[in-house]
Amino acid sequence: MKYQVLVKTAQDAKRFSHAPYSDFRVGAALLTRAGKLYSGCNIESSSFSLTICAERTALFKAVSGAERHFVAIAVATDSDDFVPPCGACRQVIHDLAGDIDVVLVNRRGKTRVHKSADLLPHPFQGKLLPKHKKNGTGHAS
Ligand code: THU
Repeated sequence: MKYQVLVKTAQDAKRFSHAPYSDFRVGAALLTRAGKLYSGCNIESSSFSLTICAERTALFKAVSGAERHFVAIAVATDSDDFVPPCGACRQVIHDLAGDIDVVLVNRRGKTRVHKSADLLPHPFQGKLLPKHKKNGTGHAS
């Protein structure tokens, strides 16, 4: 598996999960085009909706570290199942990373790989917003 180090990083990040309400621990790891790794875990709030998923923790850490180009994200849990990113994370993965490999890692360390574009068909995206349409670049002016 070409993402062995990425997978191990996601599994290690799971140890820092703060999930006292769900008891569902998730670790994520993001690989940049330059080969750098950013990890994340889910962090729950007593006001449940303020919880952040492991995938978004990793993405926000990376982007706040000036990273813009990504290759893959791994998501590790203690479940026998392969746990895919929630809808909110699929949107943020699409927005910040585009079409990357999403490597799902189950309790036994088995992996399944999806393309993020397959996980979020017909996405909402920045270029649909009027501000982006005006300058025609797809980027805010
Ligand atoms: N969670 C993630 O961190 N990533 C996912 O892909 C699915 C769900 C977290 C959020 C919450 O802390 C717990 O798992 C149960 O929903």
